[in-house]
Amino acid sequence: MDSLLSQSLKDYIINTTSPESTHLQNLRKETMTQTAAPQMLSGPVEGMLLQFLVKLLGAKHCLEVGTFTGYSALHIANALPLDGKLITCENQKEHAAIAQKYFDLSPHGHKITLRLGDAMQTLPTLHEPFDLIFLDADKSNYPLYYDLLIPKLRTNGLLIVDNALWKGKVIAPQDKQTMAIDALNQKARHDPLVQTVMLSVRDGILLIRKG
Ligand SMILES: C[S@@+](CC[C@H](N)C(=O)[O-])C[C@H]1O[C@@H](n2cnc3c(N)ncnc32)[C@H](O)[C@@H]1O
Repeated sequence: MDSLLSQSLKDYIINTTSPESTHLQNLRKETMTQTAAPQMLSGPVEGMLLQFLVKLLGAKHCLEVGTFTGYSALHIANALPLDGKLITCENQKEHAAIAQKYFDLSPHGHKITLRLGDAMQTLPTLHEPFDLIFLDADKSNYPLYYDLLIPKLRTNGLLIVDNALWKGKVIAPQDKQTMAIDALNQKARHDPLVQTVMLSVRDGILLIRKG
């Protein structure tokens, strides 16, 4: 979807969104230079959207699947109240190390618990009802994550699915990852327990509210 926007329009969107903190800017810069796939980082517009959703929902208990270097986790934590909690799951030690370094340097880092390991193993051990869940990990498992995560949401809680349009490939899925993303999108759309809205922000964000 990014490719549908000119660079100048992308710049305009960033420049009309409240700016990220210096700490988040430093993390984004380090991610660009120190990681092999920096494009995985969600970015300032999606980050600010996450902050809005956390605040509007009055969320206190949040979960993230796919920490990477901690950029979206810190956006969520920034918006949480002092006693708010975020559990974030990551299976790559190198990613987790950068994330934890930036959590430790942030005044909001105490709200975040990083669970290192395969999220498929971690998630069944988490039992609290969550107000908001951000799904942003291995795309091929998206439908499995949907089945694991929806029961963990409280009523009126929000599941936010990143890369839901996968650069537009969901229109005609050809590969395993795109098929899995489309399968989650369709599953949610036809689930009578939830309402969905697809946003064409960045690479597509599917908002799923549990009724
Ligand atoms: C797209 S990145 C997350 C980006 C991050 N949410 C952000 O906005 O900056 C996906 C991350 O999920 C991690 N990941 C992939 N499969 C995973 C799994 N099964 N369990 C835990 N983490 C996983 C990857 O190592 C990667 O760091």
